[in-house]
Amino acid sequence: MAANKSLLFLPGDGIGPEVMDEVRRVIDWMDQKRTVTFDITEDLIGGAAYDAHGTPLTDDTVAKAKASDAVLMGAVGGPKWDVLPFEHRPERGLLKIRKELELFANLRPAVVFDALADASSLKLDIVKGLDIMIIRELTGGIYFGEPRGVETLPDGTKRGVNTLTYTSPEVERIGRVGFELAQKRDKRLCSIDKANVLETTVMWREVMESIKGDYPDVELSHMYVDNAAMQLVRNPKQFDVIVTTNMFGDILSDCAAMLTGSLGMLPSASLGAEDSSGRRAALYEPVHGSAPDITGQKLANPLATILSFSMMLRYSFDLSDDADMVDQAVQNVLAKGLRTADIMGAGKTKVSTTEMGEAVIAELDALAD
Ligand code: IPM
Ligand code: MG
Repeated sequence: MAANKSLLFLPGDGIGPEVMDEVRRVIDWMDQKRTVTFDITEDLIGGAAYDAHGTPLTDDTVAKAKASDAVLMGAVGGPKWDVLPFEHRPERGLLKIRKELELFANLRPAVVFDALADASSLKLDIVKGLDIMIIRELTGGIYFGEPRGVETLPDGTKRGVNTLTYTSPEVERIGRVGFELAQKRDKRLCSIDKANVLETTVMWREVMESIKGDYPDVELSHMYVDNAAMQLVRNPKQFDVIVTTNMFGDILSDCAAMLTGSLGMLPSASLGAEDSSGRRAALYEPVHGSAPDITGQKLANPLATILSFSMMLRYSFDLSDDADMVDQAVQNVLAKGLRTADIMGAGKTKVSTTEMGEAVIAELDALAD
């Protein structure tokens, strides 16, 4: 029996708790049927944490996250908290946990499942078989750069400032994640910048060039972000691995998500650096948000969160067989025509969040037999 893994669950706001309930089902199944078991602690983040503690992420929760083997998060945010001052907003909780755990590498795979190729708003032949990996730098760039804020000038006008900063070591460490992942895939890495305008990204490009010699098997290319946005909808299959800044990655990953038919299908992993004992901080979360408009109606698609758990099995625990099994169960459920509302199509069977979770378990049972 493998040692227990300690997990911190942060369901958060909106549909977060609903989709996390379905992951619990998958974890219970793993506990019973597979060699690994999980100890789950649950805590608050986002608006839920603000309501209870007056802050979207307490230091105590950060300490629990640091002490656990991996964190699984649902979603944060909602209109109820949009009126709060910036530092109390639910989103600040998410940004804080990324920063405190130094989760600098955000992996956002955009994969088009065969059964869902017709759910994309793009033509079938453009997206069928799509499998790209977007690596977004997550703890630097304009999201965290100083100075920042809004000041009122003597004449009463306002001046807002945010700063795009990167140091060469920050670029190098995310660049290396890109090269290493490309080595495990189709060996093509596209670094996306705005080097025709922004000096910081001229340096970004230079650093990428300076380390490429360490990965002779990987073909490195560069693309400006505006062109990349266009290429993602024109011919997305030209990409294998993309590496980019925090904000460009935020935007391009939503774009890539829609190629797959629904934001409700996309998982993500946010990883820190490996320490000397091979341990790395990690947080897994669906790319979709808290979807306040459908909260509490059991309409949400739990598959992105279930697939985020599968990324955890793969990247934190090296359990690729178990991860493959979860991925296969998801594919089988889709192949059988089961659909939550976000991916519903003609002739398919509409199911609730819970029914989707149950269907995944049924497929896991079938695969394990
Ligand atoms: C994401 C989200 C977050 C981000 C928000 C909720 C702070 O859009 O994870 O992509 O901008 O990073
Ligand atoms: Mg985003």
